[in-house]
Amino acid sequence: MMHSPLPIIIDCDPGHDDAIALLLAVASPRVELLGVTTCFGNCAVEDGTRNALRILTLAGETSVPVAQGASGPLMGATALGNYVHGTSGLDGPDIPEPAFLASELPAVQLIKSLIERSHESVTLVVTGPMTNAAELFRDHPEVMGNVREVIFMGGSTSGGNHTPSAEFNTYADPEALQQVIDSGIPLRMVGLNLTHQALATPDVVEQMRAMNHPLGQICAEWMGFFGSSYESVWSFESPPVHDPCTVAALVDPTVIQWQSSFLAVELEGKWSRGETIVDLHNRYSFAANAQIAVTLDRSAYWNLVLGSIDQLGQKTR
Ligand code: BDR
Ligand code: CA
Repeated sequence: MMHSPLPIIIDCDPGHDDAIALLLAVASPRVELLGVTTCFGNCAVEDGTRNALRILTLAGETSVPVAQGASGPLMGATALGNYVHGTSGLDGPDIPEPAFLASELPAVQLIKSLIERSHESVTLVVTGPMTNAAELFRDHPEVMGNVREVIFMGGSTSGGNHTPSAEFNTYADPEALQQVIDSGIPLRMVGLNLTHQALATPDVVEQMRAMNHPLGQICAEWMGFFGSSYESVWSFESPPVHDPCTVAALVDPTVIQWQSSFLAVELEGKWSRGETIVDLHNRYSFAANAQIAVTLDRSAYWNLVLGSIDQLGQKTR
């Protein structure tokens, strides 16, 4: 049976792994990319918007609306991830400048109008801090009726990367994540416990490099830059390609195994601000309020991601 494509909006902070998530969404007939919005995070939001436009230009997808969102969190200081993704937020190979402009609308307005216009309920994929989604549900709660779910990369069942206990996206705006949790929207979390199973090992990068089109070379070089950051900051031998796990779960629901759990994020802790609390063993006896990604089928994931990049690269060469 043919399924109609799932309408999605990607709210991101591109970013090397966000870039791969966008390529996967553009390539896959299983999802229909309605729009792309940006948030501060891996870099300043203006750089993230430029990167989103450059990535979509590279993917030959210049008709998807792109809109810029939050330049900082709901509360507190702005954390940026340039120490991982470089000055531009997408350092490494030279890629073309954008062939189209961002929308004049702010991100929240674009997301709202795309949700309102969609005949089918929309999946919001968040691969950066949760600020835009929190503002959307706070200011326009009426759109929630046409949102199927929020699936986000962030947090972890244990341990962090930006701090010893907190993952970067949840550290960058914990209040926003807690507000989205409290909104009651169906929520799926893809945290570090899952994405650290999605390492771009040398054989993966070699397969990108062996593709006979520029997109494959660019992806390999992106992995090279991202990989050297992961090596110098965290002593990882290969970089975890976090963000595409969200899109992969939508394209092929068998790629990730999930577990229901109570989810919260630490807002107060002296050391642990931004840490996600994932009660997989139901120690608090609270009702589950999220699905937590627990196991990745690594070979299915890379087959999907590499196959999609290759297909797109053949089409755009
Ligand atoms: C997350 O932070 C960023 O570096 C990545 O793009 C990903 O969304 C991983 O902690
Ligand atoms: Ca990201």
